[in-house]
Amino acid sequence: MPLVLAAVFGTAWYVLSRFVPELPAGASEQQRMAHAANEWAVTLVQIAFWMSVALVAARALNELAFFVFRKRKGYEAPSLMRDLFSLVLYVTAGAVILKYTLDLSFAALLPGSALLGIVLGLALQDTLGNLFSGISLHADKPFQVGDVITVGKHTGAVMAITWRAVKIKTFSNHVVLVSNSVIAKESIEVCPQNGQNARIVLFSAAYDDSPVKVIHAVREAVREADNVLRYITPVVRIRGLGESGVDYEVKYWLSDYSRYNDTDALVRQRIWYAFRRSGFTFPFPTRTVLMEEAAAQNGDGRDTETLAGLLSAVDIFSPLTAGELNALAAGSANHVFAPGETIIRAGDDGDSMFVVSRGGVDVRVDSNGTSRTINRLGEGAFFGEMALFTGEPRTASVVAAEETEVLEIGHDAMRSLFQTNPDLVEALSHTINERRAGLLASAAAPAGDEETHDGLLSRIRRFFGLD
Ligand code: CMP
Repeated sequence: MPLVLAAVFGTAWYVLSRFVPELPAGASEQQRMAHAANEWAVTLVQIAFWMSVALVAARALNELAFFVFRKRKGYEAPSLMRDLFSLVLYVTAGAVILKYTLDLSFAALLPGSALLGIVLGLALQDTLGNLFSGISLHADKPFQVGDVITVGKHTGAVMAITWRAVKIKTFSNHVVLVSNSVIAKESIEVCPQNGQNARIVLFSAAYDDSPVKVIHAVREAVREADNVLRYITPVVRIRGLGESGVDYEVKYWLSDYSRYNDTDALVRQRIWYAFRRSGFTFPFPTRTVLMEEAAAQNGDGRDTETLAGLLSAVDIFSPLTAGELNALAAGSANHVFAPGETIIRAGDDGDSMFVVSRGGVDVRVDSNGTSRTINRLGEGAFFGEMALFTGEPRTASVVAAEETEVLEIGHDAMRSLFQTNPDLVEALSHTINERRAGLLASAAAPAGDEETHDGLLSRIRRFFGLD
């Protein structure tokens, strides 16, 4: 647009200056006045032309200067800096144009400008206040674009800092403009984008639940949730002994603080699952009267008969009698896991195996520092047998691929089963060998895993004291 204006005014200037006639000698008063008016018109068009040219030049200079700034510093210059730079260019260009067209110097304008300054100062009090507060914000840098700030009743991520206001995006996706002069007066809470910002989530557990167990279970459940900083372990502690239960808080640190609403919700979800798995109770101020005798229950509230039904669907347990399945179920516990939760971790010790009774799990190994899924196991599949049968550390991590229920079978339950079903050892050692081959193929098996089938079989027998 300024380019078009420059072209229009330039042409007009050229045309007008060609057609303004010379003032003849001895011209009348009327002719002189007409000539003066014509010359004024030419001067005004000339000023307009140079102003348009200055506008184009200032814009180009601005682009060039901040292109160099971005290249050198590696980030975009603040908009306030760009605006001030443009302002200085415009004022300088204006002064030069006035000097060469009307022969007006800044010094000549000063007496008038002092008065103008007072008038403008009063009229632009707020605007100037914002401008100067904006300049001090840029100098102090109390926060930057991307940080989360709380000013008055507004909390949100900073989107931009201009010469007039700070633009923030609230967690309801609303854009709020807080003027710089308000920011300069108010106290501001700043949560830096790359800082170690923490959140606190409250929850309660029943008095019957051991605080040591609650604290451990919640800490482990929260530490791997998405957006929770991996390198700072969450802190779980008792806040008070409430009317209905023990009140706790979990303090955790976030990678991206601006997503704290979602992360708080995820942390609460993880707490729920941890409670369900560990059999903890959320306290409510209620009175419960139990009128019937409760059936024998395991872990997550499933009775032994249901668990025996689930076990009978597992291939390797199909030869077992109903009595054996019941005995195995009595020694098992049912647990529920949230999607993405680690059920067993590679390298840990383990003395139990698991059967997937609902959902599915991913078997993951670490290669070159990244975690890779080598197998997906669905309902009826089992895992964790390798550490249980050989006494070695877990060979892989197993992570819930969706909400998943698993039956945990302990060492003692398997041992008594092996005594009555020696063939089971044989069947299981085949599976172990197959899985080892899978691990070897993925280059994640520990050294010395190329053991023969017979060697493995006798190791399992020895481990369970069957020989
Ligand atoms: P364990 O070593 O106790 O713990 C990790 C488990 O992952 C392991 O037992 C097996 O049950 C399972 N696992 C290891 N490798 C494989 C594989 N290739 N396919 C399926 N499951 C596996």
